[in-house]
Amino acid sequence: MATTSSTSYFERLQDFVSENKKAVLIGSAAAVLAVGGAVYYASTSRGPGGDLEKGKSRDKKKSSKKRKTVNDADGPLLEEIKPKVVEVEEDARLSPEEIAGMPVEERTKLAGTLKTRGNALYQNRKFQQAVDMYTRAIEVATKPEPVYYSNRAACYMNMSPPKYELVVQDCDEALRADTNYVKALNRRANALEALSRYEEALRDFTAATILDKFQNESAAQAVERVLKKIAVEKAAAVLATREPRLPSFTFISAYFAAFRPRPLPTLPENPSTGDNTLILALQALEAADYAHAVSLVNEAIDQGVSWETGKAEALNLRGTFKFLMGDVSGAKEDLYESVKIFPSLTQSWVKIASVHMEQGEGTKAFECFEQAIKHNPQDPDIYYHRGQVLFITNEFKEAADNYTKSSELDDTFVFSHIQLAVAQYKMDELARSMATFRRTMTNFPQRSEPQNYYGELLLDQQRFQDAVDKFERAVELERAKPPPMNVLPLVNKGLAIFQWKQDIGAAERCCEEALQIDPGCEPAVATLAQLSLQQGKIDRAVEMFQRQAELARSEPELVNALTYQYASMAQLEFTRNYPAMAEQLAQIARSMAM
Ligand SMILES: *[C@@H]1O[C@H](CO)[C@@H](O)[C@H](O)[C@H]1NC(C)=O
Ligand SMILES: *[C@@H]1O[C@H](CO)[C@@H](O)[C@H](O)[C@H]1NC(C)=O
Repeated sequence: MATTSSTSYFERLQDFVSENKKAVLIGSAAAVLAVGGAVYYASTSRGPGGDLEKGKSRDKKKSSKKRKTVNDADGPLLEEIKPKVVEVEEDARLSPEEIAGMPVEERTKLAGTLKTRGNALYQNRKFQQAVDMYTRAIEVATKPEPVYYSNRAACYMNMSPPKYELVVQDCDEALRADTNYVKALNRRANALEALSRYEEALRDFTAATILDKFQNESAAQAVERVLKKIAVEKAAAVLATREPRLPSFTFISAYFAAFRPRPLPTLPENPSTGDNTLILALQALEAADYAHAVSLVNEAIDQGVSWETGKAEALNLRGTFKFLMGDVSGAKEDLYESVKIFPSLTQSWVKIASVHMEQGEGTKAFECFEQAIKHNPQDPDIYYHRGQVLFITNEFKEAADNYTKSSELDDTFVFSHIQLAVAQYKMDELARSMATFRRTMTNFPQRSEPQNYYGELLLDQQRFQDAVDKFERAVELERAKPPPMNVLPLVNKGLAIFQWKQDIGAAERCCEEALQIDPGCEPAVATLAQLSLQQGKIDRAVEMFQRQAELARSEPELVNALTYQYASMAQLEFTRNYPAMAEQLAQIARSMAM
């Protein structure tokens, strides 16, 4: 079975300001809720309030004492309870004919009296009797009174066991009569959550939170809680049914770029069909045609590779693709098998180390590097990758030493230099780090990566103009070489412009261009989603989060994308159900983006 967290170890290495990037996006866009949070400040007008709203603020303090008599602080409001219990003259239940024969005024008065008695019974925890009283009030009233239904729902909620279905039914009625009835929304939401009807619960909690201008913290927390339940549930369903597949081009090429290129293995004298297929697979890999490389290497192994080195290479490649597709244990098997056949295959050792890291087995990872060094002490790849592992465990000094060692053995590998500069930056050796970057840019004038990562460093220091210049140079260099193009500098440029000038349009154009070139570029999709959210273009945000979820490789990524997706969907639904507030929300979203 494919495990869920496959490639996060490499992701963390992909670019060092990724943490930064997230902070930027989360800081300004935040959860969807933040958009609504400002509703509180922006609006003073309210929808039809009715006695409930007035009662709430007026009786807040006084109410706290009395409310304690009932477990559910959310029961019928005090104001409704305060008046003395009025005896109903006719205690017997009236027949429909008798009710129909009464004048309207009298019916309304009687209904009010019945409700008041219901409130008193509720207060004394006589929930079934209270229900009967509210039912009678509902029968007598000449029009649907939301309060009667909502109060009866409160009784059902307090019964043991609670009658959630009936709570939902009554709240449906209450909300049909008054869509802005926050208490009924909260009550129905709680019942729906208890019934595991999470999406509906989310709809109600979201509406309650926004309508209540974010004053009710427990409702806001409920939104988060239910969102999490939904996202985890949906993610599990997606992962259980999804076919394993390759990540985006950008991602795979970044992965393979972390290894120095090696010559093709020499074929034996009389190569078998499988041997030739393996060479084709390795050639496809060189040509960055990953889809072909996968099917060819599988084919080669099925056909049978005739010589030992070839077998080890084939298993190394198949294991690598398994790893990239999230099958960590399958990858481990292939890679271990390959070093069993050919113990000095450094690449396999290094990749096994990363599988161990992925599984949180740091000690084993370092043992793999030792094994690799034992067989091949002069292999620069080993030191580079050991540096990477040290880097993500924040051992920057040792990481820097290992990068340096890697460059001493072979100084033509651009990433050893870049990572050294980044490690120096992490150790607060700013001047040295920038010097390393400048030297690397000079020594690798045709490579976009030093420009791109130096740009990230500059962005981290808020040197916006310089950062954008570097990203543009990186884009230029990428365009100058034969395709496919690495689009990360383009996304970075968009982010930089956004941080610098709050120019959302320009940032979006960068991301969209990146997506045209690499439709699977996850950072571009994620950025576009957040930018849409900031502009209150919620439907577009939903679309982007959906896409982000489709592209997600690991479970945490998927849960994250789904959380945003469902939060946005709930907000979209809110704007449909409460069109009067939609424009207001959109305005606030726009002002929040500034
Ligand atoms: C606040 O929200 C919670 C959760 O939905 C709800 O139970 C409670 O009644 C709400 N409080 C008020 C004062 O509306
Ligand atoms: C590389 O890292 C290891 C720790 O895993 C450390 O012992 C060693 O000194 C570092 N430097 C070199 C040059 O290998």
